[in-house]
Amino acid sequence: MADFSLTHSLSGFFAPTRFEADVVDCVVTGTIPPELDGAFYRMHGDWLYAPKFKDESSLSADGYISMFRFRGGTVDYRGRYVKTERYCRQLAARKQLYGYYRSPHGDDPEVRDTDNPHLRTAANTTPVVLGGRLYATKEEGLPYELDPNTLETRGPTDFDGTWPSQTFTAHPKRDPFTGDTLAYGYESTGLASNDVHVASFDADGRVTWSLDFQVPYSSMLHDMALTENYVIIPGGGTVTSMERLEAGRPHWAWDAKRPSYYAVIPRGGRSEDVRIFEGPERSIVHTANAWEEGDTLVMDAPIASGNTWPWFEDVDGAAFTMNGFTLRRVKLDLRGNSLAAQESELFDRDVTSFTRIDERFLTRPNRYIWVQYADPDRPFHAALPDDPRLRPVNCYGRFDVIDGTMLPYFVGPDHVLQEPVFVPRSVDAGEGDGWVLGTAHNLVEMRSELVILDATTMTECGRVILPFRNAYQVHAIWASASDLAFD
Ligand SMILES: [Fe+2]
Repeated sequence: MADFSLTHSLSGFFAPTRFEADVVDCVVTGTIPPELDGAFYRMHGDWLYAPKFKDESSLSADGYISMFRFRGGTVDYRGRYVKTERYCRQLAARKQLYGYYRSPHGDDPEVRDTDNPHLRTAANTTPVVLGGRLYATKEEGLPYELDPNTLETRGPTDFDGTWPSQTFTAHPKRDPFTGDTLAYGYESTGLASNDVHVASFDADGRVTWSLDFQVPYSSMLHDMALTENYVIIPGGGTVTSMERLEAGRPHWAWDAKRPSYYAVIPRGGRSEDVRIFEGPERSIVHTANAWEEGDTLVMDAPIASGNTWPWFEDVDGAAFTMNGFTLRRVKLDLRGNSLAAQESELFDRDVTSFTRIDERFLTRPNRYIWVQYADPDRPFHAALPDDPRLRPVNCYGRFDVIDGTMLPYFVGPDHVLQEPVFVPRSVDAGEGDGWVLGTAHNLVEMRSELVILDATTMTECGRVILPFRNAYQVHAIWASASDLAFD
């Protein structure tokens, strides 16, 4: 039986939806640019059954993919659950079977498999295009391949036996200059292990290089950055242990005494060439971009100076306070004099960790970073709940790292924005010439809307209006006909 009444955070707009849907020729306002030909894919967390514990994070909500298919100035919508093993077994049992996030010792005996924790993945984080195929990814398990048109689930993949890691990141990076995709899996040999597997895929999705290395301590390694010759994987702050996991506790806790670290892996290199740089206590969830300046690696990212995860208890018992992300620049000097990361702040405005660039400039210096943020000086609908967890993320900003300016877009007083995605106007358009796409919760009308902005002016071209709300989105991507075979 599905009962969500005990879980406050899953009420109202944020309740699961638990249905699949098709909407043909969606209602739109304004104008949908006819040049937009492709699909805007989003991954959601949409609980099929309520979590076992009231304090469970949203990280284990069941994976759901939706697609806004653009062609000729019109848009069709489709939404489907990812039919993971987790989803199918819950559906068969008609109840929740799984314990805390990434903590299989607390699972019901009929599904508990502590040697193969990746089999319980929710596949709910990022839609990924790799080698002309579409995948639903989550860092706790293997990707699930999906049909890019019907969104039906084809099944999990280990890339024809070429991916030995139990896990695969939700944030691989495609080098736009070579067509290669770099990816990694951490806790690659099992729960709480320090092992990381890194590999490169060619444009056809075949593994062409890999290595394994160990991090200083097992920590959430959620995103990576890519330069022409290096992979950078930031980590730190989050900690785990077999003792925690065997007690059935959530996978992660926060340890302010632990340094942050940056694993620097030479592309095509050897395990012994991996270097670990260190910094102070930091939360680094997503990266914007990285590149090389001589012997220095430069990485821009939203970075916070302490815990940003309300669900991860402090190992010393400290109460959670949210540390704000700001856009910062980290430099890693490869000349061998120091393994200390050098950090500076690019902008002092608090932002979220959901940030994107014009990905044609990945691995090379870029000018613009788009990121969502909450502007408390903007109006907010007085009848909506004044809950700090719902502090409205009501703006997108185009941050210019060259001249230090920011161009804002305010979505309106009834709305909360989700991750912005940049789409270039054409393959040879200049950096930042195109559109920004992102979805918004309309909290008054209880529906989801897709906003389309001119990225150069951050002004709205049009909106796609769904007649219902979606469960919360994690990440989104744009895929064009050169990425996937569309009907
Ligand atoms: Fe992410």
